[in-house]
Amino acid sequence: MPLFPDYVIKEVADKNDIYDVISQTVSLKKSGSSYIGLCPFHNEKTPSFSVSPRRGIFKCFGCGEGGDVIGFVMKNENLSFFDAVTKLASRANITLPEVKNFDKDKSEKRKEKAQHIYEINKEAANYFYSNIKNSPEAIAYFKKRELSSSQVKAFWLGYAPDSWTGLFDHLVSKGYTEGDIYDAGLIRRHESGRYYDYFRNRVMFTIFDSNSNIIGFGGRVLDDSKPKYLNSPDSSVFSKGKNLYSINLAKHSKKKFCILCEGYMDAIALISAGYDNTVATLGTAIGDSQARMLSRFFEEVVICYDSDDAGRNATNRAITVLRGQDKLKISVLDLKAKKDPDEYIKTYGKERFNSMLNARKTDMEYLIDYFGENYNLKKSDEKIRYISELTQYLSLIPTKVELDVYASVVAEKTGVQASSIISQCGVKRAAGLAISREILML
Ligand code: CTP
Ligand code: MN
Repeated sequence: MPLFPDYVIKEVADKNDIYDVISQTVSLKKSGSSYIGLCPFHNEKTPSFSVSPRRGIFKCFGCGEGGDVIGFVMKNENLSFFDAVTKLASRANITLPEVKNFDKDKSEKRKEKAQHIYEINKEAANYFYSNIKNSPEAIAYFKKRELSSSQVKAFWLGYAPDSWTGLFDHLVSKGYTEGDIYDAGLIRRHESGRYYDYFRNRVMFTIFDSNSNIIGFGGRVLDDSKPKYLNSPDSSVFSKGKNLYSINLAKHSKKKFCILCEGYMDAIALISAGYDNTVATLGTAIGDSQARMLSRFFEEVVICYDSDDAGRNATNRAITVLRGQDKLKISVLDLKAKKDPDEYIKTYGKERFNSMLNARKTDMEYLIDYFGENYNLKKSDEKIRYISELTQYLSLIPTKVELDVYASVVAEKTGVQASSIISQCGVKRAAGLAISREILML
């Protein structure tokens, strides 16, 4: 349902000069008929953010963000379309026609509700943290995992005591309602109608969104019982498949690449070793919206998953998903010897990790070697299966030159002509297209 008639939106865009608006927050220099500056939407040292007053648009050639003046205000100030138009209208003294306030009310209410949940979560995080000092079992656990008290504090770790209503009672005493505490995912409701804490007897990891709001928690058992981790249920502010642990730190890290790992403990170990550009998925396979988020902040993602079978399969899936982001470079850090980055750093130290990191392979180099280990390339049938498996991935390569580079490596390894490998990729790609066309026609 459109909120404003098109002519109003056009007037608002026309009367707010995009240069005037953007130059209030971004320092712009003239360059031909446009202006350039440092992009406010990603970290960069050389300007790739361009503003064209004549066309009324902006575009960043680094991160791909672009749009008109309304789009800029929405993105820059994190406003809804409605709020951005209202703000720009008042800036240009345009009186907006009465519109049904239905959607505005709804979005305002949603925002308020979210703020309320962040606040409850923050109180819960403080509660979990404050429990540690009275819990020898939690203190012993942190010690066992080699987590210092400053790490515990910096990462907002905590402990949910073995109590049915400890957190619930605490939050009620602070004035929060059952409904809101429930919506934050912190309690469950028993058939009898009574509420009880969702996290009990667990070490707690606090999860922030990219704007540093507390959106949820992960709780780990202190022993070997199952499930090992319990995460906040998905809610109006939290989605396991869409958020990344520690993205709020990583996005400020000023590094061109990020390290993507699987676990909270891995992220904490790497960040503490100086890699503040580390993020972790939250117990689900990486999805498109997480890949998009990473491509907004980084040029390259270094996949650093567990070196067991599950981790290797997840690496291959992650490559496929991340390849969906055109501009993203993808590489793989294969730890081989140790199960996960946390164990690796603790056993071998950061120097050795750093040299592994510097020696990382591109995604395709990694796959060529990885599948190479599974086949005996001296046997014709295995060679054919090897190439067939590999072309699933080589088909993801978007440019001819890149495909040529890797096809030559495979050719060298197998003795099969690069051109045959390339045309096999073409076959796969065509088959993929046929499938998507079929889906479209359904
Ligand atoms: N995970 C989950 N639910 C589980 C197991 C794991 O959500 N039942 C998620 C958690 O986010 C966890 C990550 O998957 O951090 C990786 O799991 P795993 O490799 O099993 O754990 P580690 O991170 O190695 O944890 P730890 O070192 O504490 O054993
Ligand atoms: Mn681990």
